Formats: sequence, structure tokens, C-alpha cells
Amino acid sequence: SPAYERFAALPKAHLHVHLEAAMRAETMREWCAEDGVEVPPLVEFPDFTRFLDAYGLLISLLRTPERLGRLLDEVVADAAAQGVVALEFASIPDKSAAFDTAEDALAFILPAVAEAGRRHGVWTGAIVSIDRGAARAHALEAARLAARFADRGVVAVGLVADERGNPVAGAAEAFAIARDAGLGVVPHAGELAGPEEVRSALQLGVDRIQHGVRAAEDPRLVEQLAASGVCLDVCPSSNVVLGVYPTLGDHPLPALLDAGVRCSIGADDPLLFGVDVVDEYVLARERMGIPEARLAACARSSIDSSFAPADLKRDAL
Ligand code: ADE
Ligand code: ZN
Repeated sequence: SPAYERFAALPKAHLHVHLEAAMRAETMREWCAEDGVEVPPLVEFPDFTRFLDAYGLLISLLRTPERLGRLLDEVVADAAAQGVVALEFASIPDKSAAFDTAEDALAFILPAVAEAGRRHGVWTGAIVSIDRGAARAHALEAARLAARFADRGVVAVGLVADERGNPVAGAAEAFAIARDAGLGVVPHAGELAGPEEVRSALQLGVDRIQHGVRAAEDPRLVEQLAASGVCLDVCPSSNVVLGVYPTLGDHPLPALLDAGVRCSIGADDPLLFGVDVVDEYVLARERMGIPEARLAACARSSIDSSFAPADLKRDAL
């Protein structure tokens, strides 16, 4: 569509996307057929657990370095076609089905994605996701792992899975390890849990917040967010598919932008939610009524809030 072409041409950073769920649908079908497994459900999930099950199936398809290498190349090629100049992808290396250790998985992923980035003209940075459901020792180990790769392509640690019962403050120690290594901290917060988790994330001193949208329920927190300049990496379709909001028309992105909160727009899990990052811009324009100039500002915010090097930011902005 003309709108898709227009938003694809906008230089942007994609800051909220989970690597495994950025797999192409054709590639997934090919691998499912090869492995004799059923294609997972897409776009309709009765609950968050069922969503995580589908996500787990994608992880299990990535059981060889060859497949992982092809995924990385396709994800970066697709990003280039979407006008993405800086891609920060989240990955859970300790869940890799292709390698015995998280260390080996990252040691494979980082040079492969850097090479794909050079080929397709996209700067890439890896976010090492910590699973909130995992034990404390495991979170610390993931942060230490990320720290060891701080000069080889890891830019930040994240925090993923179900917030309910696993508050962001529980990861304070892991975040401190990341920070000491010069890494960024970009947890999921204020998605499945409410504004208190966004407040708590701000108190921990995070660089950006993935989702963070439920801050909109607390006007004082919205003011505080706007004043902080902390960027929310917002994924409207994800929020609707996972039942955070009934429809895109109920989504708080327009209100957050009106209040001066910095927001980037992302697709979260493109394959599972049936949208890419450009679709999210189109939907924000057409279904959420956000003016084109404001979406262009989101694209600039995304680049500015990324961990991309200063010269890339200068050239892109
Ligand atoms: N992992 C992948 N997508 C996620 C989401 N939307 N929330 C929490 N963890 C996730
Ligand atoms: Zn996410």
C-alpha cells in the first residue's frame, strides 16, 4: 500500500523485537515440515502461557547453527527493507537449541549478525533477555554473560516473560552487573502489570522501557516519564493480541505522545502477532489517529534512544 511504502521509507530504529519471533512465516513452515512438527498458532492466543508455548516452538526450530545463521540473515534483510537503520534485537541465548551453552550461542550470534548487518547496511545491537521466571542465580549468570560480550555486540540486558508475580525490582542486582559493564538496561515493564512496575523501573534507573504503556493509568507517572526522557518501546498490536487493550482504538500511545513521553514503535514478536514494524506505523496512523509528523518524531526518537554509535545517529537524524 502507499502508506506502507511511505512509512518504510522513514529511517527508523527497531528497538523492541524478539529475534526468534522475527522468523519469516515461510521459513517457519519449511522448518516445521522438515521436522515433522505442527505449525504453531499465530495471532490468536487464549492466554499469555499459550503465547509463550508458541514462542518456545520457534526456539526449538532453531536447533542448528545453519538455521540460526539463516534466521539472522533474513531478520536483518527484512529490517533493511523496512527502513530500519538500527536494529536492537532481544534474544535468550541460554534457551538456544543449537548450542549447549549460552556462551557458545552468543559467540555464534554476534559475529553472524554483524556480518549480516554489513551486508544489508543495518547497524545491529544485541539485548540479552533475562527470563523473569528463572531463579536469581540464573538472572545473575545471564547478566554476567552479557557483560562478557559488552565489547562484542551486546548493548543491553532486558527482562522478559510474565511480570505478574515477578516484579522488575527483583532484577536490581542483575541490572547493576550490566551497568558496571557499561551495558544498557531495557526491561519489559508495565505490560501485563500496572503503572507501579513502570515507577519501579524508573527508580532502578533504566535506559528505556519495553512497553511501559500502562504508565498511562497514572497521570503523575506520565509527567515523570516525560520529564525523564526515558523512551517507551511501544508495540500496539502486541498489546491488543495479548489482551492488554481490547482494540487499537483503546491504546494509550496517542495520549502518551500528547503528554510528551518519548516513544519508539516496535513489533515485539512480528511472526506471532502478524505485523512488522512498518505495519505498526501504518496502524498508528490509520487506526489510532496519530498524525504523520508525530510518527516521524517517533522514528527520530527511536534512533536517538538507541545504543547505536553517535556518528550513525548524526547521519540518520
Ligand atoms: N517475550 C516476547 N514477547 C514478550 C512480551 N510481549 N512480553 C513479555 N515477554 C515477551
Ligand atoms: Zn517484548
